Amino acid sequence: MNNVAKIAAAREKFLNAENFRLQEALNFPAGCAIVRGVNTAIPVDELAVGNINAERKPIGSCTIVIFGASGDLTARKLIPAFYHLCKDKQMPLKFRVVGVARREKNDESWRNELRVALDQFSRTKPVDENVWRGFAKNLYYCRGDLADAATYERLEELLVSFGEAPLRENLLFYLATLPSQFSEVVEQIHRAGLLHKNGSGWQRIVVEKPFGHDLASARALNKELTRFVHEQQICRIDHYLGKETVQNILMFRFSNSTFEQLWNRNLIDHVQITVSEKFGVGQRGGYYEEAGALRDIVQNHLLQVLSLVAMEPPVSLESESIRDEKVKLLKSIRPLTPEDVARQVVRGQYFAGEVDGEPHPGYRQEPKVKPDSNVETFVALKLFIDNWRWSDVPFYLRTGKCLPQSASEVRVQFRPTPHVLFAAQCGQKLDPNAISLRLQPDEGIYLRFNGKVPGMSLGVRPVRMNFSYDAEFGAYTPEAYERLLLEAIAGDATLFIRRDEVETAWQIVDSIRADWDGKPLTNREFYAAGTWGPIAADDLLAQSGHVWHEPQQPK
Ligand code: BG6
Repeated sequence: MNNVAKIAAAREKFLNAENFRLQEALNFPAGCAIVRGVNTAIPVDELAVGNINAERKPIGSCTIVIFGASGDLTARKLIPAFYHLCKDKQMPLKFRVVGVARREKNDESWRNELRVALDQFSRTKPVDENVWRGFAKNLYYCRGDLADAATYERLEELLVSFGEAPLRENLLFYLATLPSQFSEVVEQIHRAGLLHKNGSGWQRIVVEKPFGHDLASARALNKELTRFVHEQQICRIDHYLGKETVQNILMFRFSNSTFEQLWNRNLIDHVQITVSEKFGVGQRGGYYEEAGALRDIVQNHLLQVLSLVAMEPPVSLESESIRDEKVKLLKSIRPLTPEDVARQVVRGQYFAGEVDGEPHPGYRQEPKVKPDSNVETFVALKLFIDNWRWSDVPFYLRTGKCLPQSASEVRVQFRPTPHVLFAAQCGQKLDPNAISLRLQPDEGIYLRFNGKVPGMSLGVRPVRMNFSYDAEFGAYTPEAYERLLLEAIAGDATLFIRRDEVETAWQIVDSIRADWDGKPLTNREFYAAGTWGPIAADDLLAQSGHVWHEPQQPK
């Protein structure tokens, strides 16, 4: 064997051993929460697997109780998420899921109903019958009115009938009810002796957004809930935090020295964060009339993404360190005076138009919407973060229904080059560099820079360096709820919103709301369904010589 062959054989041996070690490391036992997404088909020397969750202890037996279980959320999101967690062997070895609701059903009929819904809502198809059977025998239904103490007595009996202390004491209470019922349900489960601040086992409650409808109501709700539980026992869900790509913002920023060096006012001109949707409000008009785009998306999803994009590095990956930094960032957002709101915030409402070539009614014609409603279906705003890193860098946020695309994207726009050399020749045409974090769809990251057009002349044009999740890792895109439910069971608070976080976000949103209340929409604030919002949204950026960039279309 010559030297080259020897080296190749030794390398092969090393890779095989390494491959085996990695396979072993990745072969987690049932009940461990792990981050998936490593394609072992990729040669090992190209992988640097740093699994920050590898230390997590196995999750013990527990029961998940869903209040309001006959609602849409259970069939669409929660049950498909639990089914996939079972499929991926992530659930504890022993667990139960109990649905509590008023409708007349029994265990069997509830299971049958959920099985039918799973065909429709499962992200993987067809449904694996073996997995379903194993999962379905853990599903139980408890009928009762949420305001009636007898319901909670029946629930207690059911939990006791499971026969094991952990299934009776380790309890995740999921409040899939109307927000107005949160306090009552929590008080009732406490009275029934199922929820303790300091008792045996563990108990946590999961609350869906909206968490209050303004700062005062959020504070009141926090006060109510913390009568019966500690803050650490509350998991406030913002499903954006469960998205792989949103979690990747932290990895991208803090595990790569290249980009973090550039992440500041010296090099970044401005940042655009878009959460756009093609759909109108559909059947959710009743809810949307109370919420509007500001409460529905800006208060939570947009401010969460902003805080991850702009926060300082946390001192550790402990949940409190990360959440401390997020709150610090939200608190650094410059408060908006009424004059700022007039200058820096744009609202809009869609009127009838065309989306994807199909006619779409206006918001005021949607079911359960008042014919003279002034609720906003679009918001664009400019925020400043008053800290050392971001001073004077505009952050533009926008969201809307009935826009031309459904896409969520963060675009970080770098400063232009000095006006010499190519910039002097190409003027405005020379594109400044940009990094886009595509949160959905076609998840990935791309870097836009200028390159020479091949040929005799000195032509320059923007080109892209593209990272696509699908191309790199295969089509593994767990639903946000899978991750969030697993974290709630495991008791890791990182992906949930802390009390001060939710209150600070409301403070920002309240100052805008206060200025809008009582002011009817003007003509300039309407936009045709299927367009990018009112003209004023373009003017908002034009004030500083900027333009909106449309999220990249999936290829
Ligand atoms: C929800 C809002 O929180 O997020 C909806 O209430 C919105 O109005 C949805 O459609 C968007 O979520 P996603 O994951 O589809 O971007």
